[in-house]
Amino acid sequence: MVVGKPIFTVEQIQGRVRELAEVISNDYEGKNLLAVGILRGAFMFLSDLVRAIQVPLTVDFVVAGSYMKESTTGEVKVYYDVREDVKERDVLLVEDIVDTGITLNHIRERMLLKRPRSLKICTLLDKKEKRLVDIPLDYVGFQIPNEFVVGYGLDYDNRYRNLPYIAAFRKTI
Ligand code: PRP
Repeated sequence: MVVGKPIFTVEQIQGRVRELAEVISNDYEGKNLLAVGILRGAFMFLSDLVRAIQVPLTVDFVVAGSYMKESTTGEVKVYYDVREDVKERDVLLVEDIVDTGITLNHIRERMLLKRPRSLKICTLLDKKEKRLVDIPLDYVGFQIPNEFVVGYGLDYDNRYRNLPYIAAFRKTI
């Protein structure tokens, strides 16, 4: 198995996270921000993002999964749901990557049933080419081509999440 050179370096990621945080801080001034990380993949992005956001916020999590190695099963399992009451809250779903859109669509629909005051989506990576379900993305870090990537929270079979950068991943033949 081969992890390629960084597609996004630590510096590029941190720079983009700061830019996103600045826009989000402006947009959520005076609001009741609840940042919801979609785990496991978003743990690193969420923790950097919330540290850079400069308005008061609350953090919560959804733990969900649908992938077996590099393929989606198409079925999203939610292992843990938010503990916060989302009514009167301005919810920001924070994802590491939107690929087919199946996971985020499921989480979004589920969250909307709880009737938040507003609901927006922030994803670090957007792999548009693979999209099967159309979802509105409000804040996007980087567009990426149809390549399997690991690092900065993203895994292959639960490995490589701890890489501080994002790299292409290829299985050797
Ligand atoms: C990954 C990733 C996103 C989702 C994106 O999660 O973190 O949540 O897949 O893919 P999609 O747009 O095709 O649904 P995964 O199911 O691998 O669980 P994990 O977060 O524990 O890695």
